[in-house]
Amino acid sequence: MTTRFSTLALAAIVAPATIVAVLGWVSLRQWEASAELLFREQARDMASMAAEKVEMMLRHSEDAFLERLGGALGEKDLDARSLDALRAQAPLVGRLYLVDRQGRLAYPRAGARGEDADVLAQARAEAARGLWERGGRRELIAGDQAWLLALLRGRDGRPLLVVLSRDPDGVRREILETTLGGLESPTILAVLDHAGRPVYSRVPLGDAQRLLAVGFREGLPTWRLAVYQPAGASPRRAVRRQVAVFTAAFAVLLGVIVTGIVVTWRLMRRETEMARLKSEFVANVSHDLKTPLSVIRMFGETLEMGRVADEGRRQEYYRVITRESERLSRLIDNVLDFSRIEGGRRVYEKAPSAIEPLVRETLDAFAYPLAQRGFKVEVDVAPDLPEVALDADAVGQALANLVDNAIKYAGERRVLRVAARVAAGWLLLSVTDEGIGIPAEEQPRIFEKFYRAGRSETQGRRGSGVGLALVRHVAEAHGGSVGVESRPGEGSRFTLRLPLGGDA
Ligand SMILES: Nc1ncnc2c1ncn2[C@@H]1O[C@H](COP(=O)(O)OP(=O)(O)O)[C@@H](O)[C@H]1O
Ligand SMILES: [Mg+2]
Repeated sequence: MTTRFSTLALAAIVAPATIVAVLGWVSLRQWEASAELLFREQARDMASMAAEKVEMMLRHSEDAFLERLGGALGEKDLDARSLDALRAQAPLVGRLYLVDRQGRLAYPRAGARGEDADVLAQARAEAARGLWERGGRRELIAGDQAWLLALLRGRDGRPLLVVLSRDPDGVRREILETTLGGLESPTILAVLDHAGRPVYSRVPLGDAQRLLAVGFREGLPTWRLAVYQPAGASPRRAVRRQVAVFTAAFAVLLGVIVTGIVVTWRLMRRETEMARLKSEFVANVSHDLKTPLSVIRMFGETLEMGRVADEGRRQEYYRVITRESERLSRLIDNVLDFSRIEGGRRVYEKAPSAIEPLVRETLDAFAYPLAQRGFKVEVDVAPDLPEVALDADAVGQALANLVDNAIKYAGERRVLRVAARVAAGWLLLSVTDEGIGIPAEEQPRIFEKFYRAGRSETQGRRGSGVGLALVRHVAEAHGGSVGVESRPGEGSRFTLRLPLGGDA
């Protein structure tokens, strides 16, 4: 029945729990993946938007500069000084060259910088591909710099090729800081140059992690706009935390369920065990009562029929009947007292009592079975024992239970030793036999109610299993205890320890 219950509990709780756990885990993993995807997409959108804004700003400022430059060129003849002033007002512009239709450098007067000769040659070649005729603007990439080519007209109507580069510092200050600096976001936007070095970032990057980078389409072709994740703030981490919380909560839930099952199962097992023990108890008690009763009845009937002529025999029969009724009373007392203990109604009346008579009277009650089975009885009561405050009936009953067990669980060697002595403020009453003994693992359990060591039954020894429970209760009611030393096959010694001063 208990195995059926546990299989059922397993099927009913563990299987759904496993399914929930697996489903939860799978959906968390999916969530983790999609959250990350979404986050990356958002980051990419943000980066492209920011890049577009930067390009627009750049284009806007460049247009404004070209317009001013065109205005200046159209007003009067090419005047280096006013162009210098114009340049000084445009921090975005790095270097500026003007080339005429013949390919001659018209500005600056001082000539081109050595390293720009190559760029100018490329610009002339590029302009030759239709720029002179059609006008407009072109980008030229030379080295890691992007140059802007544009066609303007001078006062005399002749075209002039404008070749200008951007000043990185100017771009950072004028464009990047104004467009990107205001963005509030947990992620960090940074602009990287052609070598991947950060040109600008809103806050120091530290050990932030790069998520992705997008290019600027025009204006800054070699630069890239990157999105960084501050250290310890990745969305994956947040999801991981959620997963951990979910897992922990689930584990706790599972733990509670399993604990509940185990506790219920244990309770059930104990209940069924108790029920089994109780029904066994009833059967055992009935049997115990039947034996002396049938003896009494047999002898009573024999006497009644008047068939026993010999007076001596008759006297013996009377003695048997008396003895068996005493045994019957003892059995019934035991059961009644046990039920009183169970109901908490057992009252102990303690009075100073001598020990020697108590031991002697108890043994006298067993004189017949002891003699009949050929027991060697040794009594060792210290002569100077003081009187002890105890319930003589209860202690006598406890002692009787121990003696009864010693007789019942005897083996080949029929020896009974009863001793009483005082040690360190305690009265020690011990009953020793050389009987079948008790396995060590069962020793702690034999004092439980209804418990009978495994072999008692198989060896045909009847009993109710309440004797030692009663002994223990009596001992504890006196503030004492009962213990056992035993070895299977060698014998047992039960010792009652009672405080000399009555209640401890
Ligand atoms: N002297 C003993 N020698 C061996 N086993 C014993 C002895 N006394 C008790 N036991 C074991 O302890 C169990 C419990 O004893 P008890 O409570 O008196 O119940 P009962 O005698 O009715 O079986 C017994 O069934 C027996 O197995
Ligand atoms: Mg017993």
